[in-house]
Amino acid sequence: MDRVHTFIAGCGYVGEALAAVLLAEGKTVVAARRRPERLAPELLAAGAIPMALDLGAPEEYDLPAAELLVLAASPEGRTQSAYFEAFGAGPSGLLEELARRGISPKRAVLVSSTGAFAEAKGGWVDELSSPNLDDPVQGAIVRGERAFTDAAARTGVRPIVARFGGIYGPGRERLIAEVLEGRATYDGAHDGWTNRIHVHDGARAIAHIAGLADPDVLWAIVDREPARRRDVLAHLAARLDAPRPVAAADKSERGEKRVSSARLAASGFVFRYPTYREGYGALLAARGLVR
Ligand SMILES: NC(=O)c1ccc[n+]([C@@H]2O[C@H](COP(=O)([O-])OP(=O)(O)OC[C@H]3O[C@@H](n4cnc5c(N)ncnc54)[C@H](OP(=O)(O)O)[C@@H]3O)[C@@H](O)[C@H]2O)c1
Repeated sequence: MDRVHTFIAGCGYVGEALAAVLLAEGKTVVAARRRPERLAPELLAAGAIPMALDLGAPEEYDLPAAELLVLAASPEGRTQSAYFEAFGAGPSGLLEELARRGISPKRAVLVSSTGAFAEAKGGWVDELSSPNLDDPVQGAIVRGERAFTDAAARTGVRPIVARFGGIYGPGRERLIAEVLEGRATYDGAHDGWTNRIHVHDGARAIAHIAGLADPDVLWAIVDREPARRRDVLAHLAARLDAPRPVAAADKSERGEKRVSSARLAASGFVFRYPTYREGYGALLAARGLVR
C-alpha cells in the first residue's frame, strides 16, 4: 500500500468523523476495522481506503505506512481487561508491529476516555490532575494509556492521548429520544455532572492537536461547559415542549467531576459546539424538531 497521511485503526463513530474531516482537507486516509464492510458508504465515496484489521493480531495484515496513526477502537465490554486491551495492549501491539516493519508513524493519537480522570466531589479536573489508580475502571484505562505511551517511546513515535467525554452527534441522540418520549429521569440525590463533546468537534480536535508543532501528550476532549444531567434534560424538554424530566429515586450516577477543556481552548482550537446548547440545537434543527 502507498504511504498515506492517516491510518485510523478502529474506525467507528469517532474514526469516521475524523476521516471525513481529513478527507475534506485533501488528506489520504486508511479506515481500518475488523468489519470494514460496515464503513459508511459516503466515506468510501469521499475516498477513504477501507481495510480489515484486528488490533489483536496486527502481524496478520498488510499495514500502511502513515504520517499519523489514530487508535480509536472501543473496548469489547466494561471489564478491566477489555479496557486494557482497547487502550493499552491493542495500540501498543500495533505500534510494535509497525516498528518491526520499519514503517512507524511520526505521531500516534490514542482516543481514550475522561473515565480516566478521578472523581472530584463535583470539582474541576484537567490534564494535570492525578488519576485514582485504585478505581478499577480508571486504573485500567490509565495503565492502558501508559502501555501506549511506553510503546510509543520504544518505537520513536510521538504519543498523544485524547481523553474524550461522552460523545454525541448525528445518530447518537439517545437523550433527545428519552425526552421526547417522556422517560428521561435523573438522579435527584446527586449533581450528576456530565462532560460531553460533539463528535464533529472531537474529530476536529484530534486533527488540530495532531497538527500542532509541539503538542502535549495528554488532552481532555470535552466542550466548554460541563453540565448537570438534569439541566441538559430540562433544556431539551423546554426546546421540545416535552414533559419536564423528573428525579428517579433508583437512579445512581457517578458524575462527580467537571472536566476542563482549557488546554484545548488555549491551544487555539475553536469549538463549533462550545456547549450542549449549540450541539443539541444543531441536532434538533437537523431533525426538523425546532426552528
Ligand atoms: N462513545 C462515547 O461516548 C465515548 C466516550 C469516551 C471515550 N470513548 C472512546 O472513544 C473511542 C471511539 O469510540 P466510538 O464511539 O467511535 O466507538 P465505536 O463507534 O464503537 O467504534 C469503535 C470501532 O472500533 C472497531 N474495533 C473494535 N475492536 C477492534 C479491534 N480489535 N480491531 C480493530 N478494530 C476494532 C469497531 O469495529 P469492528 O467491530 O468492525 O472492529 C468499531 O468500528 C473508544 O476508545 C471509546 O472507548 C467513547
